[in-house]
Amino acid sequence: MAASFPVETTKESDQPLIEQLLDIAFGIERRVKTSYRLREGSTPADGLSLVVRDAEVGLAGSISFWPLAIGSTGTPALLLGPLVVHPKRQNIGVGLTLMREGLGLAKGYGHRFVILVGDAPYYARVGFQKLPEGQLTLPGPVDPARFLYVELVPGALQGMQGLVLPPYRFAEISVPFAVPHQAERQKQSAQCQ
Ligand SMILES: CC(C)(COP(=O)(O)OP(=O)(O)OC[C@H]1O[C@@H](n2cnc3c(N)ncnc32)[C@H](O)[C@@H]1OP(=O)(O)O)[C@@H](O)C(=O)NCCC(=O)NCCS
Repeated sequence: MAASFPVETTKESDQPLIEQLLDIAFGIERRVKTSYRLREGSTPADGLSLVVRDAEVGLAGSISFWPLAIGSTGTPALLLGPLVVHPKRQNIGVGLTLMREGLGLAKGYGHRFVILVGDAPYYARVGFQKLPEGQLTLPGPVDPARFLYVELVPGALQGMQGLVLPPYRFAEISVPFAVPHQAERQKQSAQCQ
């Protein structure tokens, strides 16, 4: 049986330590990665930023999930990440605990589908698998072998197709098509009278 650790909701005051951990684990160049483009200008999904606290090192680990909109319909989904574990607390189950807790909460909140970019052999431990190539596209380069998904509701992947964006980007792109032009609106309201 894997070790378990008390998981808590992230506080504003945790942020500097989380950023430090991320800089150590992924370097400051992490900010140019495609997954960062999916988080830019966005905020984490409600209740889905979690930490494991540690008396000695401060934070043993951190995970967050971010809202996404997929394809022409903007189907809601989540991005898992970043997940990071303090170098002194790795390989004792902190990462798996954070993922299991996060995915369980996400399912409870009604989320159906989660994607991430990461090492397949690790994330397979909580059910992630490689996406069928070409089914979803990201707003930047991604190694298809690291582009992974898990269904929180069986069958959630079915019919999902197209570009993955943060919801606000999806709204910016789709609103000009969804809201009729002023002249069109006048014509429509004249027809309704
Ligand atoms: C990757 C990371 C999140 C894993 O968290 P963790 O708490 O150390 O891992 P856990 O204790 O939950 O799991 C440990 C198991 O996963 C394996 N594992 C850890 N990282 C792995 C990886 N990148 N690929 C494959 N297996 C991995 C370990 O070998 C160990 O296997 P065992 O149970 O057979 O001994 C953490 O090590 C980390 O933050 N690393 C720095 C960032 C990084 O390397 N990211 C790459 C992943 S995208």
